Amino acid sequence: MCGIVGVLSGEPAVPLMMDALRRLEYRGYDSAGVATVTGDTLSRRRAPGKLSALQEVLEREPLKGVSGIGHTRWATHGPPNLENAHPHVAGRVAVVHNGIIENHAVLRAELKAEGAVFESATDTEVVAHLLDREISGGATPQEAMARVMPRLTGAFAFVVLIAGEEDLMLAARRASPLAIGIGDGAAYVGSDAVALAPLTRRIVYLQDGDWAVLRRSGVSVFIGDGTPVERTEQVSTVSAAMVGKGNFRHFMEKEIHDQPEAIAHTLHAVIDPGTGEATLPGPLADAASVAKITILAAGTSFYAGLTARYWLESIAGIACEVELASEFRDRKPVLPAGGVAIAVSQSGESLDTLMALRHARTLGQKVLALVNVPESTIAREADGVLLTRAGPEFGVASTKAFTAQLTAFLGLAIALGFARGHIDEAEKRRLVSALEGVPSRVAAVLKDVSRYQSIAHGLSRARDVLYLGRGLSYPIALEGALKLKEITYVHAEGYAAGEMKHGPIALIEDNVPVVIVAPSDGWFDKTASNMAEVRARGGRVILLTDAAGARALGEAADEVVVLPDIAPEVAPILYSIPVQLLAYLAAVEKGTDADQPRNLAKSVTVE
Ligand code: F6R
Repeated sequence: MCGIVGVLSGEPAVPLMMDALRRLEYRGYDSAGVATVTGDTLSRRRAPGKLSALQEVLEREPLKGVSGIGHTRWATHGPPNLENAHPHVAGRVAVVHNGIIENHAVLRAELKAEGAVFESATDTEVVAHLLDREISGGATPQEAMARVMPRLTGAFAFVVLIAGEEDLMLAARRASPLAIGIGDGAAYVGSDAVALAPLTRRIVYLQDGDWAVLRRSGVSVFIGDGTPVERTEQVSTVSAAMVGKGNFRHFMEKEIHDQPEAIAHTLHAVIDPGTGEATLPGPLADAASVAKITILAAGTSFYAGLTARYWLESIAGIACEVELASEFRDRKPVLPAGGVAIAVSQSGESLDTLMALRHARTLGQKVLALVNVPESTIAREADGVLLTRAGPEFGVASTKAFTAQLTAFLGLAIALGFARGHIDEAEKRRLVSALEGVPSRVAAVLKDVSRYQSIAHGLSRARDVLYLGRGLSYPIALEGALKLKEITYVHAEGYAAGEMKHGPIALIEDNVPVVIVAPSDGWFDKTASNMAEVRARGGRVILLTDAAGARALGEAADEVVVLPDIAPEVAPILYSIPVQLLAYLAAVEKGTDADQPRNLAKSVTVE
């Protein structure tokens, strides 16, 4: 997490850095800061809170200089206050940093013993002190980096600015992402190419363990204690356009409404709209020989994986397991030869998922990336890429990327099932046509969101909310609970409806809202029994179902939301919409920041 940027330009650095930081604010918004160097003077401005707070500081106290570094923070070490805001300075050296220096405590003790005085509680500050110690001792900046890099452990990226060095930046990357931009007599660094897009399209992606010396005239890349390496420049395809909110109040609201398009685009990237034929991405091209699929993901992307498991088992007849990336990477799972791991990630940068991808590869698996960001690290490291076409997602709570992941997975399951002879032509056509019917039904739900307003009002005032679902609706219950808790701070739990009686039912008391996700599918009757158990204990039932479900159970619920009829296989995509709307509207009711909820960040690049 954290967004970092560096600029060696001919123009004032601060406006360029602030624009880049705005593009990186999705990575954290606990504090922000910039530093510039003019002659022998390093100057910095910092502010706790969002970038807008730093902007106000800069308006009161402008910062000159054409060389600078900047940062937007997601706090790991030390609370989100002014003193822990980056850039951190020691002597002549200023540093902005993303990730964690894992051995910071040992290094801090060593530096303190030599008399270093620390200003912050961050792990970052040790880097500034280590480099300053070397430079004060007579080392050149390049020599200092060569000595300091081997001493650091962890997953991190950082950029360094040095007093008296207006034509120099140092940058390093280990696991956390970092892109170098080459300009016309200028050099840039950013956490991703999107941040640099208005400045340059010429990008050098640093590889793991690389560090670089940047000057306006060019960039030199090194590994370890200073061995030079060649890294090729590429032309980035990411757009420089700043996507706005249009007439919506929040990005999240806009992104919920983007879904008919996002689903249709993703569907047509997987399945040819003319012929209904699907193409299988590289690692799955030889469908018959795929021994097992292991899905690796975190958060909402993990729930997309849980849904996909039903499809891959029942439609494609493939053994499938879904793993939380953060757990998988530290286990020694036994995976078959010929297995394929699918790393699922909106950002393509989640460090847990990246590490899980690497671990899967060491376990002999081919790796497919299912990502929304084409030039992301996970996309670049995988053997093949299946892109969701949701477009940029800015709201911290994932919405359109989730339904796009579901769409891509179902398309993939259909293609695999057909290629493996597990489903015939008629079944393939039925499923493709069901998928093609999803965008219009999602649009129908979004036409009238007023139905959700009063229910959302109730949820925003609840202490605890339960979400229940069975089969394909179970992951949607999990997703509904995650959406509600992360943006309203109301405690919410998702459960498999059948699991409720094994413990969670103890939580049900008078008027505890229980959202039940239950299209009238093969699981409906059993879910109905679980709903009766909730009702019998005083729970307030909010039933999300279709017309047939409402006829069967409407009387037994406190609130019924009737969704358009849809084939059971594609229902999870449609039923994601009401749970997103409930969470979003509850956040608006409560007055929390739906786009930038507390403590969170869009791209989680720490372990
Ligand atoms: C929740 C949410 C997160 C992300 C998770 C993984 O709304 O957005 O749970 O799904 O941090 O992020 P990606 O998909 O970028 O790897």
